[in-house]
Amino acid sequence: MPDQPGRIAESIEFWFDRYQRPLPWRLSYDPYLVWVSEVMLQQTRMEVVLRYFSPFVTRFPDVRALAAASEEDVLAAWSGLGYYRRARMLHAGGRDIVERFGGVIPADPLSLQTIAGIGRYTAGAIASIAYRQRAPIVDGNVARVVSRIFAIEAAVGSHKLMAAAWPEAERLVNSCSDPRALNQGLMEIGALVCTPQKPDCDSCPVRVECRAVATGRANALPLPKERRVATRMVVPLYLIDDGRGRFLMRRERGGLMTSMLHLPHGSTALLGGRLLSVVERELIGSFRHTITTRNVEFRLHRADLREIADSGEYEWIDPESLAQLPHPSYVAKAVAIAVRRA
Ligand code: ADE
Repeated sequence: MPDQPGRIAESIEFWFDRYQRPLPWRLSYDPYLVWVSEVMLQQTRMEVVLRYFSPFVTRFPDVRALAAASEEDVLAAWSGLGYYRRARMLHAGGRDIVERFGGVIPADPLSLQTIAGIGRYTAGAIASIAYRQRAPIVDGNVARVVSRIFAIEAAVGSHKLMAAAWPEAERLVNSCSDPRALNQGLMEIGALVCTPQKPDCDSCPVRVECRAVATGRANALPLPKERRVATRMVVPLYLIDDGRGRFLMRRERGGLMTSMLHLPHGSTALLGGRLLSVVERELIGSFRHTITTRNVEFRLHRADLREIADSGEYEWIDPESLAQLPHPSYVAKAVAIAVRRA
């Protein structure tokens, strides 16, 4: 008779074998594909990742191809996924793996954690999912599942929750038959069954062992976090064309968005007119965009250029070639609106 973590692990593995979603990296469990998928999934929803994953790994099919690419090409393929620091770290990690591990992704979590950009979660995911090592993983989904199974009274995203969840995840992975099935099962149950709101406890393979179910707390755990409300901002964007359909854009240097293309917007155009001074023409549209804790309403204006201080920072960009160049998604949205209204 297995002990309790053994029983829970077994039920999760059995459920995963039967109900898992068919995802592209689950065909081969190639460590590189697992790594790329985990990095993409860290801050982006599955539906979005599924649109970007296959083109990305077709373009960069293995660690060596990724390492040999320019950062600009990697960022271009990442455009639309957001949180571009992840793409830079993935690229740096690829170069690190080529230099120090001969291009072979290591299997043990400690070696994995020495690689640029790979932390405890990603190391555990690669080790367990690609190599079936007994390494625990806890992301937001797993933390929620574990907090319910073991009735951990801690808030979403809190240090207390993570500190309690990692040892439980470790006990489970040490009691399971197949770490690949157990860890993905925990994540998959979190995504499909043990959802933040209205968990579907009737369909859950661990409802019998779940302490939150036993105490009627499944809906209440983990505890809600104290909310930081998104700051609302209005930012004008200037679409300045060269008469041949190309738009003026600025290549950022420094900061998170290094080398990405931006449209002239409120703050750059307003630097006392030092960088750029524009004459606003018509307002052609607006859209909302949320980046971390900022909710921005972008207002699109056609504009004429009055004065440009450092023209070396600016380029005329053809909308057709934008897809091959690194840019945040607000730029793509704005250009699409401008082209439609042309
Ligand atoms: N979310 C993050 N990684 C995942 C995985 N391997 N399977 C399902 N959902 C995930």
